[in-house]
Amino acid sequence: MSNPDQSWTIRAEAPADAPAIEALNNDVFGPERFARSAYRLREGLAPLAELGLVAVENGILRGSVRFWPIRVGGMPALLLGPLAVHGDQRGRGIGVGLMQQGIEQARKDWDAILLVGDEPYYGKVGFTKMPEGRLQFPGPVDPARLLGLSLKDGALEKLSGAVTRA
Ligand SMILES: CC(C)(COP(=O)(O)OP(=O)(O)OC[C@H]1O[C@@H](n2cnc3c(N)ncnc32)[C@H](O)[C@@H]1OP(=O)(O)O)[C@@H](O)C(=O)NCCC(=O)NCCS
Repeated sequence: MSNPDQSWTIRAEAPADAPAIEALNNDVFGPERFARSAYRLREGLAPLAELGLVAVENGILRGSVRFWPIRVGGMPALLLGPLAVHGDQRGRGIGVGLMQQGIEQARKDWDAILLVGDEPYYGKVGFTKMPEGRLQFPGPVDPARLLGLSLKDGALEKLSGAVTRA
């Protein structure tokens, strides 16, 4: 992970971080983010408090990652996102650092993670494209951007069917 000066650190998200995280996600994704297909899986549900992480530096929020519970063909799984890093803080390893720590924490209780995003980026922490047609997402999604990661051997291969709210 590129954090040569160890200047930013990652810690668990606390309730008091919520306003700064909302502002970050609003800056990065805009208010139209709520219309995205992935948000249909989040509607009316809170992110998993025990998995939310923030990157901070001198008390300032640099980045955030959250995880939502979902179901895939009735089986529990995680949805990663939003992942966001402030525009002037990118390329410092914060995004990958947040994901790596989030994935390690999730490994204890969860079998697989899905997300909608760019494979060249998420591939850095092991996400791969889901086979086309295996999952039915609740809304339009570019199949090349539907990615998954097994947290237990073979877990991803067992996932198929409708992706729904937990
Ligand atoms: C994507 C994002 C989280 C990356 O955060 P970051 O802290 O800059 O990421 P890191 O420093 O850990 O990694 C940077 C590396 O990833 C690469 N990268 C960043 N976004 C990429 C993308 N969409 N596709 C491919 N590579 C990407 C950078 O070029 C850089 O590569 P390098 O290490 O070879 O120089 C950040 O750019 C961001 O918030 N973007 C807008 C929101 C977004 O797209 N979120 C993800 C979708 S949910």
